Amino acid sequence: MVRLTYYGHSAVQLYDSKFTLLIDPFLTGNPLAPIKPGEIKACDFILVTHGHADHVGDTVALAKRHNSTVIATWELGNYFQAQGLTVHPMAAGGGFEFPFGRLKMTFAIHGCGGPAEAEGPAVPANTPVGFLLHFGKKVIYHAGDTGLFSDMRLLSEKTPINIALLPIGDNYTMGIDDAARANEYLNAERCIPIHYNTWDVIQVDTKAFEYKIQKQGKKCTILNPGEFVEL
Ligand code: NI
Ligand code: MN
Repeated sequence: MVRLTYYGHSAVQLYDSKFTLLIDPFLTGNPLAPIKPGEIKACDFILVTHGHADHVGDTVALAKRHNSTVIATWELGNYFQAQGLTVHPMAAGGGFEFPFGRLKMTFAIHGCGGPAEAEGPAVPANTPVGFLLHFGKKVIYHAGDTGLFSDMRLLSEKTPINIALLPIGDNYTMGIDDAARANEYLNAERCIPIHYNTWDVIQVDTKAFEYKIQKQGKKCTILNPGEFVEL
């Protein structure tokens, strides 16, 4: 059993009755966040796709409070380590057997790095990534911030993907047409859209996206911030 809770934007919590993982925990300053960081009860691992402020979010405060291990690229990991966090650094293309299951860091087409974008120390240049996770007997792909790329096909070649979390907001990432194409490449059993409606520039028609996915004969689950699915 996996419980997947959506906190708006790209923020997702995964729970399998043993481990709690947070991905891109952007709660403070997220206009769609249904909870405050203080309401997160437990968090064993925090996975951060890249160093943009809408993905790093509350990682530092949450990891300190819950003694979480942060999983990020080596460069972004250094930034967290310098702030006293426990980090497991990786790089795109690499995988590791964590206590909760295997995680592979996947490529993402996006940008990241340079001078400070948020308060606090500057974020170093870092490669944006996604995560392909084996968790609670499910295979879950969180694409991070990315444009469409045809190598997404490779991700499900060996092991079928149960859940694909795909950005659909356009402008900074894939829009609904490209995200639907991505879902074809991934051949995911179920897709859950992320990274939309947070701001005016990424407003989308989620019904139109759902329709495109259903036409593929696949499931699309649109979660309002605060809602969860059990799989
Ligand atoms: Ni970004
Ligand atoms: Mn973003």
